[in-house]
Amino acid sequence: MYLSREQERMLEGEEGEVVERMFRLLVRLGDLYGADRMIPVSSCQVSGVSYKSVGDPGLEFLEDLAEKGARVRVRTALNPAGLDLEEWREMGFPEDFAAKQLRILEAFRKLGAEPTVTCTPYLAGVVPSRGEHLAWSESSAVAFSNSVLGARTNREGGPSALAAAICGLTPRYGLHLEENRRPTVLVEVEGELEGPWDFGALGYWAGREVGGEIPHFRGIKKAGTDELKALGAAMAASGAVALFHVEGITPEADPEKTRGLERVRAGREEIRRSYELLTTGEEPELVVLGCPHASPEELSRAASLLEKRGKRPVWICTSRRVKEEASRSGLRRKVEEAGGRLVADTCAVVSPLERLGFKTVGVDSAKAAHYLPGLCGVKVVFSSPEKLLGGRK
Ligand code: F3S
Repeated sequence: MYLSREQERMLEGEEGEVVERMFRLLVRLGDLYGADRMIPVSSCQVSGVSYKSVGDPGLEFLEDLAEKGARVRVRTALNPAGLDLEEWREMGFPEDFAAKQLRILEAFRKLGAEPTVTCTPYLAGVVPSRGEHLAWSESSAVAFSNSVLGARTNREGGPSALAAAICGLTPRYGLHLEENRRPTVLVEVEGELEGPWDFGALGYWAGREVGGEIPHFRGIKKAGTDELKALGAAMAASGAVALFHVEGITPEADPEKTRGLERVRAGREEIRRSYELLTTGEEPELVVLGCPHASPEELSRAASLLEKRGKRPVWICTSRRVKEEASRSGLRRKVEEAGGRLVADTCAVVSPLERLGFKTVGVDSAKAAHYLPGLCGVKVVFSSPEKLLGGRK
């Protein structure tokens, strides 16, 4: 791989031990994937923020970087942490977990990362433009930024996104290159999709079907931010989709590029099967909405539905930014008066939910339904928010 003189100096340790280590990681990655050179990134988004995900090794690694004076060189957003930073005590999160989580966030603060702690940075002020090169690692945010915003990022791991943040660079390969962004499979969708939950169910089926391909969807008549974020999140969870196109809707979708592609078909039956596959329990003790983190529109819809809910507690997970907006607009009060809770900075999957005593959780997200049983040891009911809050499956 070609390296500029300045980059060679980074590799030789002239900019310190941390930059040398981080840059070495990027060079190895680039060599592995056949990159020809490094390119600057305009922002990074780093996963591996929850203490539940990274444990003591991750905490020590981050504190070591911070102690050595490492700093990010570009705008760097963080994935959700393991708790709501303001309300963890009243929500019953364990003190020992919180202490370690707060140390992780302090280390990231010293590194210069922004405490966005959300999987939807694009709804919290970090909004890349079409064609910008990024190094993002949250799989749902990768799918959204590539597909809906037309920015360019590979599906980074937490360490490679952090290395890119510290060096301001990423190896040029994969989805950074125009020729690798063409669709590789055509998905023909038949029938109507009701809301983001149905898009999640469709995405869950599609991810299993296409794996790591680049699907081009035909037949979706209408989809906004919430639908597209649910579709991408589910495909990234059940498959390894990092870029998708939706004909007539996403910026790089070009019907001309679908000629001769293998076709698969999806309709109500495939969607129904996803709900069935992902539902493992019966009566949820807790309903969790907001995976990926809820947009203001989703919050507003949930707030209106909350009046219907039964007695079970309801969390709506969102970013700190959206929670603060909801406090200002009065939406938060509406949610709380109806008995719901706006939970920021975290989500059910990356929080220590298993330590809060819940056994069955209702979700409207295929991604959450996919991960909750394995990561939190709970059973799941996957359905629309209306049915979950109305007490029907
Ligand atoms: Fe976000 Fe947690 Fe879902 S990180 S995408 S809300 S599993």
